[in-house]
Amino acid sequence: MASEIRLSNALLRPWRLDDAESLARHANNPNIARNLREGFRFPYTLDNAREFIKRHVIDTNWAIEVGGEAVGDVLLHPRADVQRRTAEIGYWLSEAHWGNGLMTEAVRAVTAFGFERLDLLRVDTLVFDRNSASARVLEKAGYVLEGRLRLAVIKDDEVMDALLYAIVRD
Ligand SMILES: CC(C)(COP(=O)(O)OP(=O)(O)OC[C@H]1O[C@@H](n2cnc3c(N)ncnc32)[C@H](O)[C@@H]1OP(=O)(O)O)[C@@H](O)C(=O)NCCC(=O)NCCS
Repeated sequence: MASEIRLSNALLRPWRLDDAESLARHANNPNIARNLREGFRFPYTLDNAREFIKRHVIDTNWAIEVGGEAVGDVLLHPRADVQRRTAEIGYWLSEAHWGNGLMTEAVRAVTAFGFERLDLLRVDTLVFDRNSASARVLEKAGYVLEGRLRLAVIKDDEVMDALLYAIVRD
């Protein structure tokens, strides 16, 4: 079970099966799906939501709760083998809550959790080149642009560069 992390206007807490309805409602948005991997569908159905919640109950996957409902997701996905002290961070937020600094606060909090509680040395992620809002979130949270992976991504038939952002423990 994910530990609870309290933010100024939100709570990060474990996903629950009864989040499926609000998850489907907030996730069903092409403006979210276009910046995520293929597994995040549009349209995003109630069945997709139930399946996600059943399959993704891991300790480092948090629902973002605002006003009593789950409106987004943030996770740390630990890498394996020689990269076992690195985790990948991933996140999305309901468009109704964009632009309030919420995800920057969530990324900061989850990154600190990774360093302090999981003994990670590094957290990183790939951002599609066109996703300026996500790049900005990472920069505000202290992540550094380490490189441009040229033509590394194809999404909706568009081929793009991907940006590698990372933060390491002090
Ligand atoms: C990316 C996302 C998580 C941002 O969440 P958020 O809570 O709105 O983020 P914040 O409010 O903390 O910060 C957003 C920043 O991006 C900026 N921004 C927003 N749109 C932008 C754009 N088109 N170009 C440049 N900057 C932009 C905002 O102005 C803000 O920066 P500022 O504080 O300097 O003004 C949200 O837009 C989202 O869920 N997008 C779809 C899924 C996704 O992209 N996930 C990440 C995949 S790597």
